[in-house]
Formats: sequence, C-alpha cells, structure tokens
Amino acid sequence: MTVPRGKFITFEGIDGAGKSTHIGYCADLIAGRGIELVSSREPGGTPLGEKLRELVLHEPMHLETEALLVFASRREHIAQVIEPALARGAWVISDRFTDASFAYQGGGRGLDLIKIDTLANWVHPELWPDLTILFDVPLEVARARLDATRQLDKFEQEKADFFLAARNEYLRRAAQYPERFRVIDSTQTIDAIRLQLAGIVGRLT
Ligand code: TYD
Repeated sequence: MTVPRGKFITFEGIDGAGKSTHIGYCADLIAGRGIELVSSREPGGTPLGEKLRELVLHEPMHLETEALLVFASRREHIAQVIEPALARGAWVISDRFTDASFAYQGGGRGLDLIKIDTLANWVHPELWPDLTILFDVPLEVARARLDATRQLDKFEQEKADFFLAARNEYLRRAAQYPERFRVIDSTQTIDAIRLQLAGIVGRLT
C-alpha cells in the first residue's frame, strides 16, 4: 500500500514579524492530530546547512554568493530532510524556504528575480509548499520587536529600505500565488492570530 505524501508548510515574514512565536503553536496543532511532524528551518536544517547558515548570516559576501549558498543549503535540506519525510507521509514545517530568497536576495538586495527563479527551478523544479503562511507587519512594528539586547545578524542590521523591499516582494508573491499563500496581519494579538492559524492549519488535510 502506498503511503499518502505528507504536507509541506512554510512560514515567512520579515525579521520581527513574529513568525517564531507562532511556529511552535502550529507544530502543536499538527502533532495533536497524531501526524508525524518534522520541524525545520532555512538556511539550515542539516549539519552542512547549519554551517552554511553561519556564513550567510554573519560573513560579508557578494550578493550572488549569498543566493548560491542559501540554495546550496536548500538542496541539502530537501535531499536529506524534506523529501524523505514527505515520502513517508510525515508533514514538514520549515521556518523559511524559497520565498525568503525572493524577498531577501531579490527584494532586499536587488538580485535579478530571474536568477532566483533559475535557481529554484534547478534545485526544486517539482517541490513547492502546500501552504505558505506569511506574517505581515509594517516595518516600524517589525523593527520595534527585534530584541535590541541581543547581537543582530547581518540581515537584521539592514536599513529600512531593505525590509520595505523584502516585505513588498513577499506581498507580491502572495498575490501571485493566492492558492498557496495565507497572509496573516501580524499586528493582531497573539490569541487572534492563533485562532486564524487553527482555522488555516485545521483545513489542511
Ligand atoms: P530567521 O529566520 O529570521 O531566524 P532567527 O529567528 O533565528 O533570526 O533568520 C534567517 C535569516 O536568513 C533572515 O534574516 C532571512 C535570511 N534568509 C535569506 O536571506 N535568504 C533565504 O533564502 C533564507 C531562507 C533566509
């Protein structure tokens, strides 16, 4: 008997949008249904990917090198974690995936979106998330939420223009792929967002 393929859910949003607060809640919702769940993140998700993450987040580099490294990390993540899990019927949730490359390397850094498309078609021509939850907030709200007491990474130190462009690119993609994206107004209270998430994740079967 063939096992039905699992679902692939990704979480996106600019730094400070509040996505980390809600991922654990979604994980509990899914695991509570008795479904095997793999929770992961990008860049990262594998031992090699975590090493690449360190470089991408902290090392200055050419913008194309940055794009190539996030896709290298993604290739490994798909091969070692995402595909095997989906194939055995487990669900996978990932804190960021290719939409982040469009938003950050494309929108934020200004890398030609056609190059990102080319990388996406090379690295995962068949695989796209079943559901992408985009936590959307105005820039000022996101900035205020970044914890000023900890060391900010390379991206978190970027200026307002960078995040404005990243947010716009996320929203553009959400409008382009409405069947896959759900946009959450992340200025709402945590309880209001949870209610919305329970509806969205609950409908996914
Ligand atoms: P983030 O997901 O915000 O993790 P944390 O909550 O630990 O800060 O950090 C990952 C950073 O990597 C984020 O600033 C966006 C960036 N990024 C890219 O620039 N391109 C990508 O393709 C991905 C997946 C992430």
